[in-house]
Amino acid sequence: MTKLNDFIPERKKQNYIDNLYSLFDQYQSIRKSSPDHLEHIQISYSESRIISVLIQLHKPNKIIEIGSFIGYSTAHIIQALECVSPSDNSIKTDKSIFITFEKNKKYYSILRKNMLDLSLKKNNQNFNEKSDKNQKTNIINENIDIINFSHLDLITVNDNADICLDNIKNRFFEKEKIDMIFIDGSKNSYPEYLKFANKNLRKGGLIISDNTLLFNSMNNYSNSDEILDKKLKKMWININSFNQELAHSELYYSIIIPTFHGMSIAIKV
Ligand SMILES: C[S@@+](CC[C@H](N)C(=O)[O-])C[C@H]1O[C@@H](n2cnc3c(N)ncnc32)[C@H](O)[C@@H]1O
Repeated sequence: MTKLNDFIPERKKQNYIDNLYSLFDQYQSIRKSSPDHLEHIQISYSESRIISVLIQLHKPNKIIEIGSFIGYSTAHIIQALECVSPSDNSIKTDKSIFITFEKNKKYYSILRKNMLDLSLKKNNQNFNEKSDKNQKTNIINENIDIINFSHLDLITVNDNADICLDNIKNRFFEKEKIDMIFIDGSKNSYPEYLKFANKNLRKGGLIISDNTLLFNSMNNYSNSDEILDKKLKKMWININSFNQELAHSELYYSIIIPTFHGMSIAIKV
């Protein structure tokens, strides 16, 4: 079995890249304000760049993020969408609709506060909020609607996460398919999230998923029988099933970028 020390050169390489890009990160304050000593569960500086570059290339209009936490990745997605927003008519003509899910009440309320601050900074005005009984639509600028969900439905029926996501997606996009999904929620639900993508992502649509190397444990074990820790074993099995499906399904053309956490990119073919 591989020893931890074997990863040190890898870690140094990642640290070099992260240090290089952290200098230009506009959302350090969100990242550093994370509660419960959970700064490390957020995407890294380099991963935020990967997402941003992909969005600028792909120019999605209908986007879903699963697992916003306090909004660090959310802020980067918004910023990348702004780079390709209709204000530059030569690039993109449709308004973006971005739905982001966070199931934890505490993180959800910090997320909302952070999005509010972001909106104030960008527009010098508050969120323009349209509300219905279940959620609020936050218009961060006139070209991007952001819909935050406190994703309580999904906690109770985690086994059917794909069905809950279907219902919510249909409320906003009806039969239209989505252009991009960023997966960073419960590691055990990744196969469910993929079922949702199988049904709802358009051809040519993009899936970006974080933690697909599960903090280097995917490459550290050749099968789940070697894992003693029950929690890790369950996550390993689910991430392995997700990775296998993305790698072998005829629906996708994919690759795992070997960031420290592992970030998968897949195009629906
Ligand atoms: C790894 S963190 C997300 C980090 C965030 N994407 C970032 O990089 O800044 C995972 C988050 O997913 C949330 N989560 C877990 N299961 C979820 C679900 N079924 N629906 C929505 N959020 C979920 C957790 O509460 C946690 O805040």
